[in-house]
Amino acid sequence: MESRQLSRAEALACTDCRHACHVMLYSDTKSQLFGKIPIRHIVLMQMRFDGLLGFPGGLVDPSQETLEAGLTRELLEEMGVAVPVSEEDHVESRFAPPISAAPSHLITHFYVKKMEEEQIKELEKASASTAVDHGLEVMGMVRVPLYTAKRGGGLSFFLSHSFIGNARSQLINSLLRLHLVTSRELQKALRNSLKMHAQSAQDLKAALALTEA
Ligand code: APR
Ligand code: MG
Repeated sequence: MESRQLSRAEALACTDCRHACHVMLYSDTKSQLFGKIPIRHIVLMQMRFDGLLGFPGGLVDPSQETLEAGLTRELLEEMGVAVPVSEEDHVESRFAPPISAAPSHLITHFYVKKMEEEQIKELEKASASTAVDHGLEVMGMVRVPLYTAKRGGGLSFFLSHSFIGNARSQLINSLLRLHLVTSRELQKALRNSLKMHAQSAQDLKAALALTEA
Protein backbone atom coordinates (compact mmCIF):
# COMPACT_ATOMS: atom_id res chain seq x y z
CA MET A 1 0.00 0.00 0.00
CA GLU A 2 1.24 3.52 -0.78
CA SER A 3 2.02 5.86 2.08
CA ARG A 4 0.25 9.20 2.55
CA GLN A 5 1.11 12.04 0.20
CA LEU A 6 2.99 15.01 1.73
CA SER A 7 2.89 18.62 0.59
CA ARG A 8 6.23 20.08 -0.48
CA ALA A 9 6.25 22.34 2.61
CA GLU A 10 5.43 19.43 4.94
CA ALA A 11 8.18 17.33 3.37
CA LEU A 12 10.81 20.06 3.64
CA ALA A 13 9.83 20.76 7.26
CA CYS A 14 11.02 17.28 8.26
CA THR A 15 14.62 18.09 9.11
CA ASP A 16 15.64 14.59 10.26
CA CYS A 17 14.29 13.02 7.04
CA ARG A 18 16.39 12.02 4.06
CA HIS A 19 15.12 13.16 0.66
CA ALA A 20 15.34 11.46 -2.73
CA CYS A 21 14.16 12.97 -6.03
CA HIS A 22 13.39 10.93 -9.15
CA VAL A 23 11.91 11.83 -12.54
CA MET A 24 10.03 10.15 -15.35
CA LEU A 25 11.33 11.61 -18.62
CA TYR A 26 9.19 10.89 -21.69
CA SER A 27 8.35 11.93 -25.23
CA ASP A 28 5.89 11.16 -27.99
CA THR A 29 7.09 9.10 -30.96
CA LYS A 30 5.67 8.10 -34.32
CA SER A 31 7.92 5.03 -34.67
CA GLN A 32 6.43 1.57 -34.95
CA LEU A 33 7.66 -1.80 -33.74
CA PHE A 34 7.99 -4.30 -36.64
CA GLY A 35 6.69 -1.49 -38.86
CA LYS A 36 3.14 -1.92 -37.54
CA ILE A 37 2.80 -1.67 -33.74
CA PRO A 38 2.73 2.02 -32.67
CA ILE A 39 5.28 2.69 -29.90
CA ARG A 40 3.36 5.95 -29.10
CA HIS A 41 5.59 7.22 -26.28
CA ILE A 42 9.14 6.76 -25.07
CA VAL A 43 9.20 6.47 -21.26
CA LEU A 44 12.65 6.17 -19.67
CA MET A 45 13.52 4.06 -16.64
CA GLN A 46 16.80 2.52 -15.56
CA MET A 47 18.18 -0.85 -14.46
CA ARG A 48 19.78 0.01 -11.13
CA PHE A 49 22.94 -1.41 -9.55
CA ASP A 50 20.74 -3.54 -7.24
CA GLY A 51 18.98 -5.28 -10.15
CA LEU A 52 15.73 -3.36 -9.64
CA LEU A 53 14.03 -1.06 -12.12
CA GLY A 54 13.66 2.57 -11.06
CA PHE A 55 13.61 6.16 -12.27
CA PRO A 56 16.76 8.26 -12.65
CA GLY A 57 17.54 10.54 -9.69
CA GLY A 58 18.81 10.11 -6.17
CA LEU A 59 19.50 11.52 -2.75
CA VAL A 60 19.32 15.29 -2.26
CA ASP A 61 20.23 17.34 0.82
CA PRO A 62 17.78 20.29 0.89
CA SER A 63 20.07 22.19 3.31
CA GLN A 64 22.69 22.28 0.53
CA GLU A 65 20.65 22.67 -2.67
CA THR A 66 17.04 22.88 -3.86
CA LEU A 67 15.27 19.58 -4.56
CA GLU A 68 15.23 20.37 -8.28
CA ALA A 69 18.92 21.41 -8.43
CA GLY A 70 19.81 18.18 -6.62
CA LEU A 71 17.74 16.15 -9.07
CA THR A 72 19.49 17.84 -12.03
CA ARG A 73 22.87 17.03 -10.43
CA GLU A 74 21.82 13.36 -10.08
CA LEU A 75 20.67 13.30 -13.72
CA LEU A 76 24.09 14.56 -14.83
CA GLU A 77 25.76 11.73 -12.88
CA GLU A 78 23.36 9.01 -14.02
CA MET A 79 22.57 10.14 -17.58
CA GLY A 80 25.47 12.40 -18.58
CA VAL A 81 23.20 15.44 -19.13
CA ALA A 82 22.16 18.07 -16.55
CA VAL A 83 18.46 17.98 -17.55
CA PRO A 84 16.77 21.03 -15.99
CA VAL A 85 13.80 20.14 -13.76
CA SER A 86 11.49 22.77 -12.24
CA GLU A 87 8.95 22.93 -9.43
CA GLU A 88 6.17 22.74 -12.07
CA ASP A 89 7.38 19.24 -12.97
CA HIS A 90 6.78 18.02 -9.38
CA VAL A 91 4.03 15.40 -9.10
CA GLU A 92 4.05 14.13 -5.51
CA SER A 93 6.09 13.53 -2.36
CA ARG A 94 5.62 10.48 -0.09
CA PHE A 95 7.47 8.50 2.54
CA ALA A 96 9.28 5.57 0.88
CA PRO A 97 7.83 2.17 1.79
CA PRO A 98 9.59 0.98 5.00
CA ILE A 99 12.19 -1.75 4.41
CA SER A 100 12.09 -2.91 8.05
CA ALA A 101 9.61 -2.65 10.94
CA ALA A 102 10.98 0.86 11.69
CA PRO A 103 9.09 3.80 10.14
CA SER A 104 10.68 5.20 6.97
CA HIS A 105 12.57 8.49 7.24
CA LEU A 106 13.12 8.70 3.50
CA ILE A 107 10.84 11.04 1.56
CA THR A 108 10.68 10.41 -2.18
CA HIS A 109 9.83 13.37 -4.42
CA PHE A 110 8.58 12.40 -7.87
CA TYR A 111 8.68 14.54 -11.03
CA VAL A 112 7.56 14.06 -14.63
CA LYS A 113 9.01 15.95 -17.59
CA LYS A 114 8.01 15.78 -21.25
CA MET A 115 10.79 16.19 -23.81
CA GLU A 116 11.26 16.00 -27.59
CA GLU A 117 12.06 12.57 -29.04
CA GLU A 118 15.48 13.80 -30.27
CA GLN A 119 16.37 14.99 -26.74
CA ILE A 120 15.44 11.58 -25.32
CA LYS A 121 17.65 9.86 -27.91
CA GLU A 122 20.56 12.18 -27.00
CA LEU A 123 20.02 11.32 -23.33
CA GLU A 124 20.13 7.61 -24.09
CA LYS A 125 23.44 8.05 -25.94
CA ALA A 126 24.98 10.14 -23.16
CA SER A 127 23.76 7.66 -20.51
CA ALA A 128 25.88 4.92 -22.07
CA SER A 129 28.92 7.10 -22.89
CA THR A 130 29.60 10.17 -20.72
CA ALA A 131 27.52 9.38 -17.58
CA VAL A 132 29.94 8.73 -14.69
CA ASP A 133 27.53 6.26 -13.03
CA HIS A 134 27.21 4.06 -16.14
CA GLY A 135 28.05 0.45 -15.26
CA LEU A 136 28.31 1.39 -11.59
CA GLU A 137 25.12 2.70 -9.91
CA VAL A 138 23.24 2.47 -13.22
CA MET A 139 23.45 -0.62 -15.43
CA GLY A 140 21.61 1.07 -18.31
CA MET A 141 18.57 3.09 -19.30
CA VAL A 142 15.53 1.16 -20.55
CA ARG A 143 12.41 2.17 -22.46
CA VAL A 144 9.05 1.03 -21.08
CA PRO A 145 7.08 -0.87 -23.76
CA LEU A 146 3.56 0.56 -23.67
CA TYR A 147 1.94 -1.74 -26.24
CA THR A 148 0.68 -5.29 -26.04
CA ALA A 149 2.25 -7.48 -28.71
CA LYS A 150 1.60 -11.13 -29.49
CA ARG A 151 1.24 -13.52 -26.52
CA GLY A 152 0.88 -10.56 -24.14
CA GLY A 153 4.44 -9.26 -24.72
CA GLY A 154 5.09 -5.59 -23.91
CA LEU A 155 3.70 -3.64 -20.97
CA SER A 156 2.41 -6.68 -19.07
CA PHE A 157 5.77 -8.49 -19.08
CA PHE A 158 7.58 -5.26 -18.19
CA LEU A 159 5.30 -4.65 -15.17
CA SER A 160 5.98 -8.16 -13.87
CA HIS A 161 9.66 -7.27 -13.19
CA SER A 162 10.86 -6.05 -9.76
CA PHE A 163 10.94 -2.31 -8.99
CA ILE A 164 12.60 -0.19 -6.28
CA GLY A 165 10.32 1.34 -3.61
CA ASN A 166 7.11 2.63 -5.14
CA ALA A 167 8.54 3.07 -8.66
CA ARG A 168 5.97 0.69 -10.17
CA SER A 169 3.04 2.70 -8.80
CA GLN A 170 4.76 5.97 -9.83
CA LEU A 171 4.95 4.56 -13.36
CA ILE A 172 1.37 3.28 -13.42
CA ASN A 173 -0.10 6.49 -11.95
CA SER A 174 1.82 8.57 -14.51
CA LEU A 175 0.72 6.42 -17.46
CA LEU A 176 -2.91 6.91 -16.40
CA ARG A 177 -2.69 10.59 -15.45
CA LEU A 178 -0.95 11.56 -18.70
CA HIS A 179 -3.20 9.28 -20.79
CA LEU A 180 -0.18 7.43 -22.20
CA VAL A 181 -2.24 4.20 -21.97
CA THR A 182 -5.95 3.72 -21.27
CA SER A 183 -7.14 2.27 -17.96
CA ARG A 184 -8.56 -0.68 -19.94
CA GLU A 185 -5.16 -1.43 -21.54
CA LEU A 186 -3.47 -1.12 -18.18
CA GLN A 187 -5.97 -3.37 -16.46
CA LYS A 188 -5.45 -6.04 -19.13
CA ALA A 189 -1.67 -5.71 -18.86
CA LEU A 190 -1.73 -6.00 -15.05
CA ARG A 191 -3.95 -9.11 -15.17
CA ASN A 192 -1.41 -10.67 -17.56
CA SER A 193 1.46 -9.52 -15.32
CA LEU A 194 0.00 -11.43 -12.39
CA LYS A 195 -0.08 -14.59 -14.51
CA MET A 196 3.54 -13.96 -15.58
CA HIS A 197 4.47 -13.61 -11.94
CA ALA A 198 3.13 -17.07 -11.13
CA GLN A 199 5.06 -18.47 -14.13
CA SER A 200 8.27 -16.71 -12.94
CA ALA A 201 7.93 -18.30 -9.49
CA GLN A 202 7.81 -21.74 -11.14
CA ASP A 203 10.85 -20.92 -13.35
CA LEU A 204 12.80 -19.76 -10.31
CA LYS A 205 11.97 -22.94 -8.38
CA ALA A 206 13.13 -25.02 -11.36
CA ALA A 207 16.38 -22.98 -11.59
CA LEU A 208 16.99 -23.43 -7.85
CA ALA A 209 16.47 -27.17 -8.23
CA LEU A 210 19.21 -27.16 -10.94
CA THR A 211 21.71 -25.63 -8.50
CA GLU A 212 20.78 -28.21 -5.85
CA ALA A 213 21.02 -31.22 -8.19
N1 APR B 1 10.35 4.87 -4.57
C1 APR B 1 10.80 4.77 -3.31
N2 APR B 1 12.10 4.78 -2.98
C2 APR B 1 12.96 4.90 -3.99
C3 APR B 1 12.55 5.02 -5.34
C4 APR B 1 11.17 4.99 -5.61
N3 APR B 1 10.71 5.07 -6.83
N4 APR B 1 13.64 5.15 -6.11
C5 APR B 1 14.68 5.10 -5.27
N5 APR B 1 14.28 4.95 -4.01
C6 APR B 1 15.09 4.90 -2.80
C7 APR B 1 16.30 3.96 -2.92
O1 APR B 1 16.02 2.75 -2.28
C8 APR B 1 17.36 4.69 -2.17
O2 APR B 1 17.37 4.32 -0.81
O3 APR B 1 15.63 6.20 -2.66
C9 APR B 1 16.95 6.15 -2.20
C10 APR B 1 17.85 6.99 -3.03
O4 APR B 1 17.63 6.72 -4.39
P1 APR B 1 18.86 6.28 -5.33
O5 APR B 1 18.43 6.66 -6.73
O6 APR B 1 19.24 4.88 -5.08
O7 APR B 1 19.99 7.23 -4.79
P2 APR B 1 21.35 7.68 -5.43
O8 APR B 1 21.71 8.99 -4.80
O9 APR B 1 21.25 7.61 -6.93
O10 APR B 1 22.32 6.56 -4.97
C11 APR B 1 23.01 6.77 -3.72
O11 APR B 1 21.78 5.26 -2.40
O12 APR B 1 20.59 3.38 -3.12
C12 APR B 1 21.60 3.85 -2.29
O13 APR B 1 23.61 2.92 -1.52
C13 APR B 1 22.89 3.23 -2.68
O14 APR B 1 24.97 4.20 -3.47
C14 APR B 1 23.59 4.30 -3.53
C15 APR B 1 23.09 5.55 -2.89
MG1 MG C 1 19.86 6.97 -8.34
